[in-house]
Amino acid sequence: MLKKCLFPAAGYGTRFLPATKAMPKEMLPIVNKPLIQFGVEEAIEAGFTEIGFVSGRGKRAIEDHFDISYELEHQIAGSVKEALLSDVRDMIDKCAFSYTRQAEVKGLGHAILTGETLIGNEPFGVILADDFCDSGVIKQMVGLFSHYQCSIVAIEEVPADQTDKYGIVDGKEIDEGLIKVSNMIEKPAPEDAPTNLAVIGRYILTPDIFSIIRTLEPGAAGEIQITDAICEQAKNSMVLAYKFNGTRFDCGSLKGYVEATNYVYDKYHRKV
Ligand code: G1P
Repeated sequence: MLKKCLFPAAGYGTRFLPATKAMPKEMLPIVNKPLIQFGVEEAIEAGFTEIGFVSGRGKRAIEDHFDISYELEHQIAGSVKEALLSDVRDMIDKCAFSYTRQAEVKGLGHAILTGETLIGNEPFGVILADDFCDSGVIKQMVGLFSHYQCSIVAIEEVPADQTDKYGIVDGKEIDEGLIKVSNMIEKPAPEDAPTNLAVIGRYILTPDIFSIIRTLEPGAAGEIQITDAICEQAKNSMVLAYKFNGTRFDCGSLKGYVEATNYVYDKYHRKV
């Protein structure tokens, strides 16, 4: 049912300069695995088989990463190092990867609209790799989608003074951890935020979202915001916000990135 998962990946990653001067921020490693690979693994584990990237200038390394590297693979064949590439090699066998470019960076809504050419007229997942989650959040949402068949956003409670970093949802709880959305605001100041329920970078969207995005005027920060499109969608049909189970690290910030690195090292790499 849900086959396609979109990865907006056109942003500059200015917070990580100079590391991101010539390297996409999505390729920053969490220990030894690029952030984007964690996101793609999460999508594949949830059953997605068509992975689409909305990339941009300077993002070629992403394409090369999800491709066979004959020379390198030949070089390490038969050695213990071969195992280090086996995960990404499996992905290439299991999935189709496609790419389109967002020529101008005009916001997440605009990036998702750019991805329409890869998605077509079917529901799809969206993963923002910056939000590193270690608990199969999109898989939890796929399960909900099979029941509700509507757009779903992942949310978590954030400290009240941090609402201006996130899309914030308001609505009515219809089941434990499940909210029927009545309003969404992109990055409201704490005094304007109706709740502290913040959208994190996991979405399942129905394809009518594309025609809604097309009608939008620039919103917060002068950009076309996906939050505004989903809010509009919530007025005409049901949209759900889901308080996911698990841990999330904001790898768009230096602090979150370092915390995620320590978490992954402790969980998967520490020997003692
Ligand atoms: C984007 C969305 C925002 C959402 C956030 C999650 O913001 O616009 O609604 O809460 O991702 O990480 P960004 O972090 O790209 O500024």
